[in-house]
Order: sequence, then C-alpha cells, then structure tokens
Amino acid sequence: MDYKNNTLNIIKLDRKIEDRSARIGVIGLGYVGLPLAIEFVKAGFDVIGIDIDENKISLINNKKNYIKDVDDDLLKNAINGGKLSATTDFSAVKGLDSISLCVPTPLNKQKDPDISFIISVMDKIRDYIHEGMAIILESTTYPGSTKELILPYVENKGFNIGEDVFLCFSPERIDPGNKNFNTSNTPKVIGGISKRCSNIGQKLYSTIINEVVTVSSTETAEMVKLLENTFRAINIGLANEIAIMCEKLGVNAWEVIDAAATKPFGYMKFLPGPGLGGHCIPIDPHYLSWKLKTLNYDARFIQLAGEINTNMPNHILNLISTNLNKYNKTLNGSSILIIGVAYKKDINDIRESPALDIIQLLIDRNSIIDYYDPYVPKLVYNDISMNSITKLEIEKLNNYDVCVVITDHSNIDYEIIYDNSQLIIDTRNVYKNKNSDYIKRLGQG
Ligand SMILES: NC(=O)c1ccc[n+]([C@@H]2O[C@H](COP(=O)([O-])OP(=O)(O)OC[C@H]3O[C@@H](n4cnc5c(N)ncnc54)[C@H](O)[C@@H]3O)[C@@H](O)[C@H]2O)c1
Repeated sequence: MDYKNNTLNIIKLDRKIEDRSARIGVIGLGYVGLPLAIEFVKAGFDVIGIDIDENKISLINNKKNYIKDVDDDLLKNAINGGKLSATTDFSAVKGLDSISLCVPTPLNKQKDPDISFIISVMDKIRDYIHEGMAIILESTTYPGSTKELILPYVENKGFNIGEDVFLCFSPERIDPGNKNFNTSNTPKVIGGISKRCSNIGQKLYSTIINEVVTVSSTETAEMVKLLENTFRAINIGLANEIAIMCEKLGVNAWEVIDAAATKPFGYMKFLPGPGLGGHCIPIDPHYLSWKLKTLNYDARFIQLAGEINTNMPNHILNLISTNLNKYNKTLNGSSILIIGVAYKKDINDIRESPALDIIQLLIDRNSIIDYYDPYVPKLVYNDISMNSITKLEIEKLNNYDVCVVITDHSNIDYEIIYDNSQLIIDTRNVYKNKNSDYIKRLGQG
C-alpha cells in the first residue's frame, strides 16, 4: 500500500488536533459527557454535543447547567463564544473529526449488560462515519465491546481501521462530587484497535488531560475499568461484612478500620455503608461476570461481594427494626426520617441509591416516611413520589420515632438531629465522637 495514502489521514487529524481546528463531538451529555465537552472547549476546540434528550439540549443551548461538577460560567462562556453547541441531530457527525461516546450502559431486568444505547448511537451515526475521523468509546462495558459493537460499523463502510478511521476505548474515571480530582487531573487510560488508533487517541486526550496512559488494546482498556470498579465493589463488600462481623462481636468496625488504615503499606481503607449506589460500582462488575459466563467461568468474588452489598439495605432495615423494638415500637406505624437519599455525599444523583431500597422496604412495612436531602428536593422512583422536608426543625425532629442517616452530606446539621432525636441509626459513622444510648451505628452492634 502507498505509504503516503496510508498515513495521510493520521497526519491530517494529528495537525488538526495540534492547531485545535479539529471539530469535536461528544455523544451523550450526562455526568460524563458534559464535563468532557467542557474540557475540550477549555482546550480550544469547537465542540458539538449530541443527545437524544431534548430537554438537556435546550438547557445547554440556553446556558443552563445541570451537572454540579460543571462550572456555570464555563458553560455560559462556551455557548456565548460559539465554542459549544448542542443538538439532537446526529447528522452533525458528518462534520466532526472526533466523537466520544458517553451513553449509559446499565443492566437489564435480568442483570445482564444493556448495550442498546451504544448500538442505538451507532445505528444513528452509521451514515455519517467518514474518513479521517476518530471514534472513542467512553461508556463502561465488557471486554471486547469496542471490537464487537463498533468496529463492524466502520468496517462495513469499507474503511480501514488505523488508516481511514481511528477507533479507541478510553474508560471514564470521573468521581462526581470529588473536590480534588476532576476530568483533567485524573489520569486517563486509552487503548486503540491499532497502534495508530492509540496514538491519535492519546494525542487528542492529552490536550485535555494531564496524564494519558496508553495500553496495548481496546480489550485491555475495557478490562482496566472493570478491574477498578470490581476492586471497589469487592472491597466495599469486605468492609460491609467486617461491619456485620463486628456487630456480632460487639466491636466497633469503624475504629477497627481506622486503626488498620494506619498501616502505611499493604492496606487500603474502605468503609461499610447502607449499600452500593451510582451508575458504576453496583453495575460494572456484572459486565465482567456476564462476559466470563459466556466463557464458562464463574466470577465468584464478584458474586459474593454482590450478595453482601445488595443485602445491606435489608441489614439496615433489621437494625432499625431491632432498635425500635427496644423502645416497644415496630416498623409498622413508626414515623421515620431518612437523612440523605443521594447515593453518596455531596451530590444529587440517586441512581441505584440504597436509600431507595431502604425507603421501599420501610413503606412495605407500613412505616411513615419523610426524608431530608438538601441536594434532592424531589424523589420520584417507581411508585414513590416524595418531597424532601425543607428544614430540620426541632419540633419535627422530636416527633420522629427514628432518624436514619443514609447519606453523609457535608452540609447537613448533624448536631440538631443529635440534640432532638429519640433514636438515630447511623450508617455512615457521622456520629463518630458521640456515644449515647439512642445512637446505633452500623458495624457496632
Ligand atoms: N457517572 C459516573 O460517575 C461515571 C463514571 C465513570 C464512568 N461512567 C460511565 O459513563 C457512561 C455514561 O454515564 P453517565 O453517568 O454520564 O450517564 P448519564 O445518564 O448521566 O448520561 C448519559 C446521556 O446519554 C444520553 N443518551 C442516551 N441514549 C442516547 C443515544 N442513543 N444517543 C445520544 N445520547 C443518548 C442520555 O440522554 C444522557 O444525557 C456509562 O457507561 C457509565 O457507566 C459513569
């Protein structure tokens, strides 16, 4: 093959990245996609965001931010300066030099990977894939996905990978609400179908991320993400089981964990809690175990951690019930205030939040539920539709039979709850320094 033609596309794209004339697309403008789009704008690129959600598109184009980790002014300036625009029209891909796919990858009802969002994007853009462009999948998925799900769309158009079109997988690592690490200062892994694909992916992402780590294949990059999140799920499972063991032993699990964490090597601190939440940790390990099942292998660690973690809401229910009984009360008819419904502190995301399971379990037992979450004013989930109480008031707090701390947001007045509650179930150890008969901690018995 002619060397010049063979390398022309990569040279052109490389130059466009270098001089920031490359036109960048981000498909899926949620927690991952919108911050990514803003980073590309910050690096000097013109960016088009594509989403099927007309409401999000209209919010962006009207300079209205809906992602807490995105700076309002950056979004406003990006739109005002004509550097960012948003559309539901997938034909925009025709004019783009690179697209990053950030669509959801949830589980279906059978807890198997639901890759329909990726397929739907590829179906919508198949006519607009063109020579000289890069396609980067960011959505977490099982090893082999980039090759199985995306590559055929490119090859079916007669394009050669690494010569005409460049295809990579680069897992997202954002941690919503994290004040120290954001998209640009969190190292990012990328793997291409070929060396040239990796090179162009690395070149592009190095414009927005301080450290880009290249691995040898898309499967490796896919597996890296699953290792990271499986590692977390399993270690949280261990911390949860330690909490249950400590309850039986009459030992304070939090004290044990803090003391163990003073070991400067060979130990990493994980905390127990009311259960896993969010779009990653409860879901991603299932992508791995599903793939392994197709290869006749049972991912036993994942299964065991999954069992322990998904049972935590039931465990919390038992804690509430047992402690109410001590005051001659039952779940049936007790009025309960849930503190925090987001899946983790200082964010407004309720996806897979254990609070939802706990509220449902309590409602099923005829408890009377209120909740307080300064980040989640309204909770709509299955048949549940509730509003957060607006304020923690002394008189109201006095009247609840029990307050249950599920999410330890930083901006909650824990003192007023402590001073005015009849009983507190603390699943996050926010009352670390308080020891009263009416505080019962997960992991203490
Ligand atoms: N949220 C996180 O903390 C996080 C962290 C790391 C990785 N991830 C992964 O990143 C991916 C995206 O997650 P997210 O949290 O940003 O999800 P999200 O639900 O916040 O955003 C996804 C967006 O994709 C849009 N979308 C759905 N179908 C589409 C389609 N066919 N075409 C165009 N847009 C479509 C949705 O409207 C939504 O705006 C997932 O694979 C997730 O596992 C998420």
